Amino acid sequence: MIGQDIQKAAELLKGGALVAIPTETVYGLAANALDTTAVARIFEAKERPSFDPLIIHTDSLDKIKPLVKEIPAKLLKLVEEFSPGPLTILLEKESAVPDLVTSGLPTVAVRIPAHPVCRKLLSQLDFPLAAPSANPFGYISPTRAKHVQDQLGDKVDYILDGGNCDFGVESTIVKLTDTGAVRVLRKGGLAIERIEEFIGAVEVNDVSSSNPTAPGMLKSHYAPKTPIYVGNINESVKRLKGKKIAFIGFNMLNFSLPVEDQFLLSMKFDLKEAASNLFAVMRQLDKSKKYDVIVADWFPDEGLGKAINDRLKRASSPL
Ligand code: TXA
Ligand code: MG
Repeated sequence: MIGQDIQKAAELLKGGALVAIPTETVYGLAANALDTTAVARIFEAKERPSFDPLIIHTDSLDKIKPLVKEIPAKLLKLVEEFSPGPLTILLEKESAVPDLVTSGLPTVAVRIPAHPVCRKLLSQLDFPLAAPSANPFGYISPTRAKHVQDQLGDKVDYILDGGNCDFGVESTIVKLTDTGAVRVLRKGGLAIERIEEFIGAVEVNDVSSSNPTAPGMLKSHYAPKTPIYVGNINESVKRLKGKKIAFIGFNMLNFSLPVEDQFLLSMKFDLKEAASNLFAVMRQLDKSKKYDVIVADWFPDEGLGKAINDRLKRASSPL
């Protein structure tokens, strides 16, 4: 059931239920992070392998402190600057955090979301929420309450509707390496340029190198059911001749395809707007069942364009 009742969501979560929650990035599938039975239901509902750890969410740094060993100064600086917001950091966990949440890893991923409805909900809870994106494992993340309803409606106890997600791509995940450098493990809503302006150059995980410390960051992820090819548009269109093609681009129409099959993510050339529309458009194309394939253009490799390109790359098939 979809609704806007924060109180109801809080009561359900206190009772060990599964509630889909709005965040500024994507919708999350939340449960009490300290209740292993409730956390197990998340994995079950998503059909998520138990080796893929979850992010925990709170509304303050104070609530994070008892859950982790220490917060290294560099990461603390980032949290103070960019939280609440689309930033997730990895920290050494305390035993209070169940191993199920971290898939047995010694670190836990934590984030303080900025969405006002989510913050209000978290402020009413004295436990953190474990919440992966509220989609079946491997599929693109939901950016509208309706997306959750469509795929997991019968598996969640309540969907707390907070409207369309502002960012539309997941949070940026960072950790401190053994040498004390900041490393971006997943490009996301917080642009790397903003982090670098603040603390200087950082290391960035390339999408294709699957990181052993991040078992869930599989290359083939965030994929729509319709096969998607990225880049080399004219070449792709030629090769895919005879197939019904949908085109996803930034703001420029492609003259080799009918206008009605083209889906431009931001006519005003705004990468943030494009990111917030990306997953919704992929879903719409899947749902319409009108297309055999999707062909997408690369976006400018800057700001949120980096996160968009990362998701396109992971969603794509080799041509
Ligand atoms: O924006 C977001 O981050 C959304 C909203 C709901 O907060 N959440 C989200 O969660 O995208 P999820 O589970 O779909 O993606 C979390 C990623 C996974 O790839 C997982 O492997 C990684 O974070 N992760 C979680 N804990 C980790 C850990 N201890 N070490 C390394 N990677 C971790
Ligand atoms: Mg996910």
